[in-house]
Amino acid sequence: MASLRSPLLIVIHRVTELAFLNTWQRRVDAALAHWLPAPSLVPTQLHQAMQYAVMGGGKRFRPILVYAAGTALQVPLQRMDPAACAVELIHAYSLTHDDLPAMDDDDLRRGQPTCHKAFNEATAILAGDALQSLAFQILSQSLEPLIPPAQQLEMITTLAIASGSRGMAGGQAIDVAAVGQTLNEAELENMHIHKTGALIRASIKLGALCAAPCERESLNALDHYAKCIGLAFQIQDDILDEIGQTQTLGKTQGSDRHKSKPTYPSIIGLTQSRQLAQELCDDARTHLAMFDGNADPLRQLAHYIIERTH
Ligand code: IPE
Ligand code: IPE
Ligand code: MG
Ligand code: MG
Ligand code: MG
Repeated sequence: MASLRSPLLIVIHRVTELAFLNTWQRRVDAALAHWLPAPSLVPTQLHQAMQYAVMGGGKRFRPILVYAAGTALQVPLQRMDPAACAVELIHAYSLTHDDLPAMDDDDLRRGQPTCHKAFNEATAILAGDALQSLAFQILSQSLEPLIPPAQQLEMITTLAIASGSRGMAGGQAIDVAAVGQTLNEAELENMHIHKTGALIRASIKLGALCAAPCERESLNALDHYAKCIGLAFQIQDDILDEIGQTQTLGKTQGSDRHKSKPTYPSIIGLTQSRQLAQELCDDARTHLAMFDGNADPLRQLAHYIIERTH
């Protein structure tokens, strides 16, 4: 594909890629702002902390996955807004709790003091709790007449399982127990596919379940794609913790090493970690073979994951 090496085409490709990322980031930001309780509402400190945890930046990668998966199946964006909000709220809750002294004890998140630093620990815990509840409130309140009721229930169940003890929270439990331990690669993979992969997988599934009806064949192909990028995303997160810049990351570089966390670079080395992330993203794209050009955002996102610097 000699033509793709042309600098001009690479620039055009990048601009196109950024265009859909920015558009969907802005879209979900507006929907989140609509759903979050006003900071002036009692209890004000809790509502301020919820706003702080959600509205202070972030790539909005999981909502973007919801939109990208649905777009592959020609779902109108508007129909996906509740699911996009719900996955980001679960993510924001998970980050707020992840940063707490009892977990990663981090001071910087998205370029600002972490929620417990800006407020206090109790407020950060409660903000996380309330964000999780709000996610399910939005999913269950925004009933969409065009999505079959069984599919809407499946969306709620999908998010519940992905964020619970067999998903993200379970992965975080494994992570906390792994501090200072030497995991083998299979154990490390298991930790990553739970703490990060589960919600990424759910994001893709939620987007697909907004299609009416959603064909199981499409769902299966997208799930294979999601499994690959979910693991790749956390491998890249580990790599960036090792080689990134605090200012670009918006979180403290070297935090994993400092806390003796098992990570891909610490277990298999940087070069092999990069190679594995690349293989996973290539593999992810092969699972999109049955889709037409509407799946191009998904194809581009697989590259974005391993090229990102924050
Ligand atoms: C960071 O997630 C935590 C992980 C699960 C790896 P992101 O890299 O998506 O963080 P934000 O939302 O952009 O801040
Ligand atoms: C976080 O993983 C995973 C969840 C929040 C579920 P990390 O602890 O590696 O995320 P960062 O690096 O703090 O963003
Ligand atoms: Mg952590
Ligand atoms: Mg952390
Ligand atoms: Mg990390």
